[in-house]
Amino acid sequence: MNYSIALVPGDGIGPDVIAPAAEVLDAAGDKFGHVFNYVELEAGGRAIDHAGEPLPPETLEAAKQCDALLLGAVGGPKWETLPGNLRPERALLGLRAGLEVYANLRPAALLPQLRSACPLKDEVLAAGNGGGKTGFDLLIVRELTGGIYFGKRGRSGNGDSAFDTETYSKEEIDRVLRTAYAAAEGRRKKLCMVDKANVLESSRLWRELTQAVSREYPHIETSYMYVDNCSMQLVRSPGQFDVIVTSNLFGDILSDEASAITGSIGMLASASLGAPSSSPAQKGRRGIYEPIHGSAPDIAGRDIANPLAAILSAALMLRYSFGLEREALTIEAAVNAALDAGLRTRDIAGRGADTGAEKIVGTREMGNAVLNAVLSGA
Ligand code: IPM
Ligand code: MG
Repeated sequence: MNYSIALVPGDGIGPDVIAPAAEVLDAAGDKFGHVFNYVELEAGGRAIDHAGEPLPPETLEAAKQCDALLLGAVGGPKWETLPGNLRPERALLGLRAGLEVYANLRPAALLPQLRSACPLKDEVLAAGNGGGKTGFDLLIVRELTGGIYFGKRGRSGNGDSAFDTETYSKEEIDRVLRTAYAAAEGRRKKLCMVDKANVLESSRLWRELTQAVSREYPHIETSYMYVDNCSMQLVRSPGQFDVIVTSNLFGDILSDEASAITGSIGMLASASLGAPSSSPAQKGRRGIYEPIHGSAPDIAGRDIANPLAAILSAALMLRYSFGLEREALTIEAAVNAALDAGLRTRDIAGRGADTGAEKIVGTREMGNAVLNAVLSGA
């Protein structure tokens, strides 16, 4: 089967990590008999430099023609002083809205190989887990194309007051809830809806809808939590969570917190999913896949960035947009194999129980190790 993938390397370390991710995809393609055709597109700071705007209409149009999009990172100090609507980050919002990817999946799990990178104590990791297991493996499903990020905003009273608006329709809430419930089905069957229903009317609508949808999923344990409490619970007993579903703003904040407790932001992938695609190439859904980390301009082009989050994002693409579960699992196992072999990029180095067994490698060597593990089927 042939798939067309839009590659948006973006700025900073974006190109450094997208290159190995595409190589690993190709290795998986060779192994399992798929062809991935890439279209490279410009967005972010690079697009500002070349086309004068962060998301040129050609980029969005071309992205819409592809089956899925793999994005590196955008932004950097060079563009920080530009007005809000011309900053590189606008490209992300424009792509999300333009491709209508309304559900953002941000998994955060503690990898045993990187235990010492996690800032939490053993007793915190054991709490809420039951069965004496330590660690956590949670998934934040963040609504991505609605709420206060896209609501009416402005200034009034000669600019002395400013406002942003949180607005949600039933349809917007319903579709992201269904994505979250579907994800919970394939996991530990627990879903926690996070809101601020003690204050916000929009949160009360989220609650009503969750109560309604939960009836269709009686085998999933549904719970509700206020966002302030959730931010505390994440550092008190993260093991209690399986799937967390929440609004755009709350999900933005909580997903940063969740990534911090894994201790290794260079490892975290994300998927932003839209409705099922009409393209015959796709069994799955249209999606944007990107590492959670930023563009880290200070280390760009130096062969030291960690490519694993980008590679794991490519695996999510195979799973969610192409329905290639076996191929996705092969890439995830290959990443594990590289870590088990002691390979570490700088950001995740020196924290293993036995750091003597670790080898510090660069972006390319890490990428090649994963690629070889994919080919050898490790
Ligand atoms: C994220 C980022 C973006 C967001 C910014 C860069 C617009 O923080 O992907 O979480 O807030 O969505
Ligand atoms: Mg964020």
